[in-house]
Amino acid sequence: MGEGKRLVDKVAIVTGGASGIGAETARVFAGQGASVVLCDVNSVLGRSVVGEISDGGGNAIFRALDVTNEQQWTALVAETEEMFGKLNILTNVAGISGRDPKELTQVTPTAGGMLEDQSLDKWNQIMEVNATGTFLGTRHAIAPMRRAGGGSIINISSICGIIGSFANAAYHASKGAVRIFSKAAAIQYAPDGIRVNSIHPGFVDTPMTKPAHSNPELAQIRLEATPLGRFGTPRDIALGCLYLASDESSWVTGSELVIDGGLTAK
Ligand SMILES: NC(=O)c1ccc[n+]([C@@H]2O[C@H](COP(=O)([O-])OP(=O)(O)OC[C@H]3O[C@@H](n4cnc5c(N)ncnc54)[C@H](O)[C@@H]3O)[C@@H](O)[C@H]2O)c1
Repeated sequence: MGEGKRLVDKVAIVTGGASGIGAETARVFAGQGASVVLCDVNSVLGRSVVGEISDGGGNAIFRALDVTNEQQWTALVAETEEMFGKLNILTNVAGISGRDPKELTQVTPTAGGMLEDQSLDKWNQIMEVNATGTFLGTRHAIAPMRRAGGGSIINISSICGIIGSFANAAYHASKGAVRIFSKAAAIQYAPDGIRVNSIHPGFVDTPMTKPAHSNPELAQIRLEATPLGRFGTPRDIALGCLYLASDESSWVTGSELVIDGGLTAK
């Protein structure tokens, strides 16, 4: 798990914690001493990650949460404060690509998923989970963090929130919204000691990217676009979350941490 004391006495909510980047973030936070409330719509996987953390000596519970459901956010935050006495960290990781697994990857001009072909329903679905879910979580974390004397909110955007590509305009729009929303929230709540930052992963090996990365031709295109020549791991991103969650980043807010193997440096 990677033990340490960088988050001792901290209470953290991690959404999208059942899989990929969220699961690893929950593991890393618990390994550094945080009490973790791991949330997801996937209860089976979520409970299994919590079981793994508990078996390793970490402190975590699972709660079912659909990030688009405001009533569930209200209940989750109230229960977190009741159980653990406070909330210090919120990591909004839950997200969907909305991509048809048959589509090619964004870095090719023939990627498909042109915006003329993207339906309003698909747009709304992607925006609702990625952008509205982040808004709701952030909104509901403010009051308890103020009561705790401050806090850290980490919103997972993407390189797609910084640059465009040949496909999935709705995903780009949702991640761009997360990026600039985080800066607005950072300015509004700096006086309360609440820091808000975004993280922008490049191509990371997770269940979300499996359809593309398990196709050798598509994987090659993505690897060639990545100067460091390998895909990111969930741990690469989780360690960025750890820095922003810990007091080591106490003077960092409204920033965007790009973790992409150099892709957007080009
Ligand atoms: N994998 C990448 O290359 C990559 C790159 C950039 C950004 N991201 C972002 O990182 C985040 C994590 O992605 P991942 O790659 O680990 O994917 P993943 O599919 O492994 O994990 C996403 C998790 O979010 C959960 N989720 C989906 N909708 C939800 C909802 N409405 N409420 C609660 N939970 C919900 C899923 O059940 C799943 O457990 C996402 O926001 C994604 O957009 C991923």
